[in-house]
Amino acid sequence: MKQITIAIDGFSSTGKSTVAKQLAKHLGYIYVDSGAMYRAVTWFAMQHHFIEKDHFHIQDLISNLHKITISFKFNPELGFAEVYLNGKNIEQQIRTLEVSSFVSQIAEISEVRELLVKQQQKMGECKGIVMDGRDIGTVVFPNAELKLFMTASAETRAKRRYNELIERGDNVSFKEVLHNVQSRDYIDSHREDSPLTKANDAIEIDNSNMSLEQQFNKIRQLVETKLQENH
Ligand code: CDP
Repeated sequence: MKQITIAIDGFSSTGKSTVAKQLAKHLGYIYVDSGAMYRAVTWFAMQHHFIEKDHFHIQDLISNLHKITISFKFNPELGFAEVYLNGKNIEQQIRTLEVSSFVSQIAEISEVRELLVKQQQKMGECKGIVMDGRDIGTVVFPNAELKLFMTASAETRAKRRYNELIERGDNVSFKEVLHNVQSRDYIDSHREDSPLTKANDAIEIDNSNMSLEQQFNKIRQLVETKLQENH
């Protein structure tokens, strides 16, 4: 059967990566978490002190972007690919609230976006890919056969992210997680370069009141229809 490209965009913590992983497994497609790439650049900037408490050394980061190599390696135990920065597995490090608190400002930098979008487009050259992010259906794969736009209320999303962080053993409060979710939503939707917006041909899915199973079944049906159309 002909393979298609599936683009999943939406606000933070809308469960994009959960459904993207389920779909990739179901279809035998590659799954790429584009947010992990922006988080990896943020981690790099923190390690090199290009990010300090109240100051970003943007020009220094831009001139050092050539030193960044991001790759994904499938971990069979986890069932998905983990992100590597210059050969080092940084999957755990990039999921902290601290990285989340800086990532949207790093993602506003056009030079960063240009570098990552090129790599993302290369990964999708042969189709058979599910990618999630903020600009996948609008900028990275504007011709994707299936585009989904995921939404849920800010409180629902913050609750999900708070539980994930607590489960990891991170010491965070619900209030700061909610603040992070809301502030990233704002920056991501208002930036000049590739703001988060629903592509005209994307299908909106509000999963505030959907179980994971209901959500997967609904999306699986959409995929089946697209696969038939592109047969
Ligand atoms: O998983 P979560 O919803 O927390 O976010 P993520 O997918 O890990 O993305 C982290 C951040 O990277 C977002 O808040 C955006 O600022 C940025 N991002 C982006 O600008 N473009 C993408 N395609 C993916 C992520």
